[in-house]
Amino acid sequence: MCGIVGYVGYRDALGIVVDALRRMEYRGYDSAGVAILGGSGALAVERKAGRLANLEAELAESGNERFAGTTGMGHTRWATHGAPTDRNAHPHRDVTEKVAVVHNGIIENFAPLRKELEQAGVELRSDTDTEVAVHLVGLAYAAGPTAGDFVASALSVLRRLEGAFTLVFTHADHPGMIIAARRSTPLVVGVGVDEMFIASDVTAFIEHTREAVELGQDQAVVITANSYAVTDFDGNAVDGKTRPFTIDWDLAAAEKGGHDYFMLKEIEEQPAGVADTLIGHFTVDERGGRIVLDEQRLAEQELREFDKVFVVACGSSYHAGLLAKYAIEHWTRLPVEVELASEFRYRDPVLDRSTLVVAISQSGETADTLEAVRHAKDQKARVLAICNTNGAQIPRESDAVLYTRTGPEIGVASTKAFLAQVTANFLVGLALAQARGTKYPDEVAREFAELEAMPKLVARVLETGPQVRAIARELAHVPTVLFLGRHVGYPVALEGALKLKELAYMHAEGFAAGELKHGPIALIEDGLPVIVVMPSPKGRAVLHSKLLSNIREIQARGARTIVIAEEGDDTVRPFADDLIEIPSAPTLFQPLLSTVPLQIFAAEVAQARGYDVDKPRNLAKSVTVE
Ligand code: G6P
Repeated sequence: MCGIVGYVGYRDALGIVVDALRRMEYRGYDSAGVAILGGSGALAVERKAGRLANLEAELAESGNERFAGTTGMGHTRWATHGAPTDRNAHPHRDVTEKVAVVHNGIIENFAPLRKELEQAGVELRSDTDTEVAVHLVGLAYAAGPTAGDFVASALSVLRRLEGAFTLVFTHADHPGMIIAARRSTPLVVGVGVDEMFIASDVTAFIEHTREAVELGQDQAVVITANSYAVTDFDGNAVDGKTRPFTIDWDLAAAEKGGHDYFMLKEIEEQPAGVADTLIGHFTVDERGGRIVLDEQRLAEQELREFDKVFVVACGSSYHAGLLAKYAIEHWTRLPVEVELASEFRYRDPVLDRSTLVVAISQSGETADTLEAVRHAKDQKARVLAICNTNGAQIPRESDAVLYTRTGPEIGVASTKAFLAQVTANFLVGLALAQARGTKYPDEVAREFAELEAMPKLVARVLETGPQVRAIARELAHVPTVLFLGRHVGYPVALEGALKLKELAYMHAEGFAAGELKHGPIALIEDGLPVIVVMPSPKGRAVLHSKLLSNIREIQARGARTIVIAEEGDDTVRPFADDLIEIPSAPTLFQPLLSTVPLQIFAAEVAQARGYDVDKPRNLAKSVTVE
């Protein structure tokens, strides 16, 4: 939520900052702004409500001369405090107009700080929480023990702030340096040659360098063209406590590669995402085949002694979590509860040392999921993170990590990360089953081999694209679409409905088919489209026959049935107005296939309605505020 970038080097900062904002726009697109420091000590700021394109148009109109300089920063906003207007857009400046700030997160104690500033005669010019930070730095720099010392002034203010924040400060009297700091929200340093970057996300600077340093909690960094110095908020050096890493994907991964939208490219990348998530997680040793996690700070003994599992996540990651329950319970006989991270800690869940909490998060920075992890750890539970972002806060604070290796996901609605999370859940389930002895090594090996066959099947499902898109265009203007499923098809139905809501702004609901007669069937009327996820006819016969009856019931009441079923499932054909066929797969793994047509469907409906599928209204990719 909000993307921030800073640059110090030898090149034109404006171009670099605007390019970086373009890559990070998925983090928020309510407004955008830049601040560039010229060598002569001038601080040029431009900011504009709306998409980055509005800012670019404004910059083009005002001429770029004002923005000549090699130090700069930028911001793309998802509004929390204050409407998405020009006046609330970042960067904000202090009264001297010499200090500028951009911010991601929420300063929770902004109200008393604002009052303090007003009492000191400072006139605030926005409705944001952010503005207090820049005035406080300005005042600390003007007088008192830190007068004239930019770094000490910034640190003194950071120590006073509460909440979650990444903040970046520049000062007109200090060209060639930037101060940034983080608490809970992300901040990465990009280390170039004679140039340095800071950003919310490595996509901002991947074009220029792949060497990065992840900052820890409550750390600040001062960058110049040739150096970065990391300290705590008291100014003590924290050498050795940062995490340098090399980014293992390149610019192409963060570009659309000929597609109109990132999301469409990401849907296509799903076979590779599933395959890459499996790589390296199965080794053969003297006991037979074994599943291995990426980072394991849990003893085998602990894995054996867990007596329950909680899965916590938000959004699509929560739906991936719902699917984890079926596999983990089936393979390990451990009870699994799946909970929205935003609800988890408020209801005092029963947690102790024998509880495993699995936290699923693409970004690794979702505030609710992070707080759920912290709550679990406070209660002595052990935490395993499934994450797509190397070194993000959630994996950092967890006891074990499994990375979904699907590369950067830029489209706001999750697609390839979802499939990779579902895949990772299977690895967690198998790792637990092998540790607890509920599956023999040869059984683990067999399941893993079945999983390895899934990417090819996902690729075959992509071939249904033209058929799915044609149905989507026909239905693009209906008011409502319902989704039905049973067993693992139920979370898939929920995910299908979520995709349609978030991308096409259409009313959509997912139901467990067994609940139909307890209410939802009252919604069925002539022509209402219902998308049904059929279980495999080779799986439990009862599931298949029950869902078949449900389709009959809704068809008899006039619904238009669009059925996703396995190839060769001829029993369903007479009841399907449209039949989308997917390859046969083991029951637990079928969601890796059945979800894909639903993603394509939602993307196509959204496009037919004229919407930007990468940046749905009101949403942001990483929700770093609760
Ligand atoms: C946002 C995104 C969703 C995502 C959810 C959880 O709502 O738009 O696509 O599923 O956050 O994000 P996480 O990064 O924790 O998986």
